[in-house]
Amino acid sequence: MKTTKKNKSLSDFNQIKSIIQNDAEEVDLLIRKNLHSDVMLISKVSEYIINSGGKRIRPLIVLLAARALNYEKEEHIIAAAIIEFIHTATLLHDDVVDDSKKRRGQETANTVFGNQASVLIGDFLYSRAFQMMVTLDNMNVMGVLANATNMIATGEVMQLTNVFDASITEEQYFEVIYRKTSCLFEAGCHVSAILANCDHENDVSMMIEYGKNLGTAFQIIDDAMDYMASEEEIGKNLGDDLSEGKPTLPIIHAINMSEGDEKKMLQSAIERGDINKLEAIQNIILKTGAIEYTTKKAVDFSNKAIASLSNLKKSIYKEALISIAQFSADRNS
Ligand code: IPE
Ligand code: IPE
Ligand code: MG
Ligand code: MG
Repeated sequence: MKTTKKNKSLSDFNQIKSIIQNDAEEVDLLIRKNLHSDVMLISKVSEYIINSGGKRIRPLIVLLAARALNYEKEEHIIAAAIIEFIHTATLLHDDVVDDSKKRRGQETANTVFGNQASVLIGDFLYSRAFQMMVTLDNMNVMGVLANATNMIATGEVMQLTNVFDASITEEQYFEVIYRKTSCLFEAGCHVSAILANCDHENDVSMMIEYGKNLGTAFQIIDDAMDYMASEEEIGKNLGDDLSEGKPTLPIIHAINMSEGDEKKMLQSAIERGDINKLEAIQNIILKTGAIEYTTKKAVDFSNKAIASLSNLKKSIYKEALISIAQFSADRNS
């Protein structure tokens, strides 16, 4: 985001990733292997979205959490690939619902291949994730992931019922982002704890807390970037949330802090999904301190994520988990 100090960049993130490079490469191979289908359009669209990059932050966290808990086998690779498949499926669906034109620096799959193909191939990736889950043969893992995918769906629908509503509160916003985003981060960490066979319930809850709080920080920053980032760095168009009439934290706070014509302008932009006055709205958001407020919230959640690891034994993996939590609240891509 455009702030005075330098945010953490993708290269900082990739540096964290390098400590678990071998595992990450295995995940990549497994993802590619599982994209295959005898129906050509499926391979074409899923390769289009997977090859377009993506940070792969969720699989990275799954790998690090497992290693930080002393896990020494290889099933965390499958778990990490599953989480990325679920994430990718939700993105294919999300870009249709949000009518988004750009993702990962290129045209969205729905722009290139159409809405029908995007929805159906999202379904393919979802169900492929469940096929991969079966190979883990672990009912606990299955339960966590089944609940998380169901929760994500409720979050996206809840968000849909909130669009064009300028009276949505912070509390309602936090409920949506927990469901649509944080809960997949939480599930990934939870699965790692199950695979690592944690004897202590505390280890499981600490990982759940870490994932949940980090995911919340991550989504809050995504929402701030939707108003204030550089399009080049985020690889998405600015103002997508506003044009969808989606009330996110920066604008909720700006509405709360403004008055008169300015307040009316913000409310009406949400009520009509009107992006024409984006620049004026960005100025009110800046003037009311909504970006600082939003960033501060993200930092609070990131600090909570870090604090939840306090009893985890020291390791390079724990350090990396801490760095990822910091990145999530202070990123520009
Ligand atoms: C985008 O997630 C959707 C959100 C939950 C904010 P990412 O920012 O992780 O997307 P990619 O995978 O790196 O493109
Ligand atoms: C992402 O929500 C959550 C899911 C995909 C489930 P957003 O709509 O805010 O994410 P972007 O901004 O399109 O990446
Ligand atoms: Mg979206
Ligand atoms: Mg967004």
